[in-house]
Formats: sequence, structure tokens, C-alpha cells
Amino acid sequence: MDGIEILPLRLAHLDAVLDLGHRAFDVATMPYTSWSLSSVAAHWDAQPDACWVAMEDTGLLGFVLGSLSYDKREDWGYLEWIALEERARGRGVASALVEHCCDALFGAGATSIITDVERGNEASMAMMRRNGFTEGVTVTLLVRPNPRMPRPSGRYPAQDPARTTLRRAARGSRKS
Ligand SMILES: CC(C)(COP(=O)(O)OP(=O)(O)OC[C@H]1O[C@@H](n2cnc3c(N)ncnc32)[C@H](O)[C@@H]1OP(=O)(O)O)[C@@H](O)C(=O)NCCC(=O)NCCS
Repeated sequence: MDGIEILPLRLAHLDAVLDLGHRAFDVATMPYTSWSLSSVAAHWDAQPDACWVAMEDTGLLGFVLGSLSYDKREDWGYLEWIALEERARGRGVASALVEHCCDALFGAGATSIITDVERGNEASMAMMRRNGFTEGVTVTLLVRPNPRMPRPSGRYPAQDPARTTLRRAARGSRKS
């Protein structure tokens, strides 16, 4: 990790964080459908000390966004978003970001920290396991497509970020 710093997320990082997330997450696929500026801002607003960036002299290398409370559980932390530029992967940067985020969430009173990993995301699964996460309850998203609607991509439509944020707020999944 020579030349790489882990720093608290600041306003000046938002644009680069949003851009990296758009390149790293497939927003047509769960659990990435709610990636948006509102999502970044909601985390930063609710739990700024659980939001970190990895920087080097060329700029942003990665970020992690966490928050306290998951669904109705106020005592669970949620490590929801993490991404690295390709060139930063395999160097322990993600693990350093996870450590900073988890430290903050445990320090804020979390009894456990939850994260969700899409099936097939081997890099994320391996990295989370290396950092002390083990499988909890498995929830499988079953999908019944509308047969009257063409689905050219064969995947789920991306959601309007504003509506997604409202839906998540209504579910009470995070303070915002
Ligand atoms: C998921 C993701 C963040 C994982 O990043 P990563 O670079 O694999 O994770 P780490 O930082 O833990 O790197 C671990 C690797 O670096 C190596 N490493 C080198 N120096 C290290 C150090 N000082 N400390 C720890 N690991 C180190 C490890 O040996 C390990 O290699 P291995 O996989 O061969 O065992 C990355 O793949 C990514 O951005 N994916 C796209 C976005 C995404 O899917 N996010 C998750 C869902 S929100």
C-alpha cells in the first residue's frame, strides 16, 4: 500500500466516488440498483465516520460507505458499498477500507456488521471472508418477469434513484 492513504470521505471526493461506483456496479442488478448520488449522500449524512476513500497522487483509488442500522435493527452496522479502481485491486486496499469502516461502526455501537454480496462476485466474497465476514441468512431474490414486456437485456430495469431512495427510506433500511 505504498503511497496510498485511507482518508475520511469529503465533499471534494463525491464526484469521483459516484463515477467509480457507476463503473464498478451493474445498476441493473441487485444489490446495486440503488447506486446514486442520493445513496452516497445518505451514508455520508448518517454516518460520516464510516465512509472512507483510498487516495494516491493520481486521485481516488476506491471507497467504502457504511452506516449504522440495517432494516429495523439499530444495533447492526451495514457495510453497503465498496469499490476499487482495477489498478488498486489485489493490493490489500479493500481490506484497509473495510477495517476503517468496521472500526467506526463497532465504535458507534454496532453489535454486528452486515454486508451483501451478489452470487458470483468471487472477489468481493473472498475479500469479505478475509476480513472476518461469514455467511449469515441467505436470501434469494426470485424473479417473475412480465411476459408482456420485452426485456432486451434480459436483466432488471435500472431504477429511478429518487424512487429507490424513497422506497429504502420507507423500508427503514437506513437513517437519512
Ligand atoms: C470487491 C473488491 C473491492 C475487492 O478488492 P480486492 O483488491 O480483491 O481486495 P483486497 O484489498 O482485500 O485485496 C486482497 C488481495 O491483495 C493481496 N494483498 C497484497 N497486499 C496486501 C495487504 N497489505 N493486506 C491485505 N491483502 C494484501 C492479498 O493477498 C489478496 O490477494 P489474493 O486475493 O490473491 O489472496 C474489488 O474487486 C472491486 O472493487 N470490485 C468491484 C466492485 C464490487 O463488486 N464491490 C463489492 C460489492 S459492493
